[in-house]
Amino acid sequence: MTMKHITFAGLVALLLNSATFSADAKQTENLTKARQAQLMHLLKQDCGSCHGMTLKGGLGPALLPENLEGKPALFLTNTIMYGRPGTAMPPWKEILTEQEAKWITKQLVKGVK
Ligand code: HEC
Repeated sequence: MTMKHITFAGLVALLLNSATFSADAKQTENLTKARQAQLMHLLKQDCGSCHGMTLKGGLGPALLPENLEGKPALFLTNTIMYGRPGTAMPPWKEILTEQEAKWITKQLVKGVK
């Protein structure tokens, strides 16, 4: 493979990535019901281990709608994807896609039952 090809592939990846970034709400509708159930399980078990089983807070802060009010969705999604360096909040980008982190953000802002 020549350098030119690598650069082109990189550019395509970048474009696809920014497309994921800008296409918002609609994209989260594309997750299958099965994946949504998995994410909900992850949210309650893994996120819940720090944020509390009912997300009312623990080691991590409460993630209830009233706590997240006024915080931009992108800021919250980025916190989920990349974590907060210097705090216990770990990055989840190895197991979640941008779309999935957005979906989780949406559930949190809406309120998880
Ligand atoms: C090991 C503990 C831990 C785990 C596991 C964890 N978090 Fe966190 N999280 C934290 C801490 C601590 C903070 C606060 C960071 C700070 O001080 O800014 C935080 C912050 C956040 C915030 C920002 C809240 C705000 O008000 O700005 C969101 C959103 C969040 N976490 C979502 C999640 C989600 C979703 C998961 C699971 C995929 C998760 N967290 C798993 C510890 C954790």
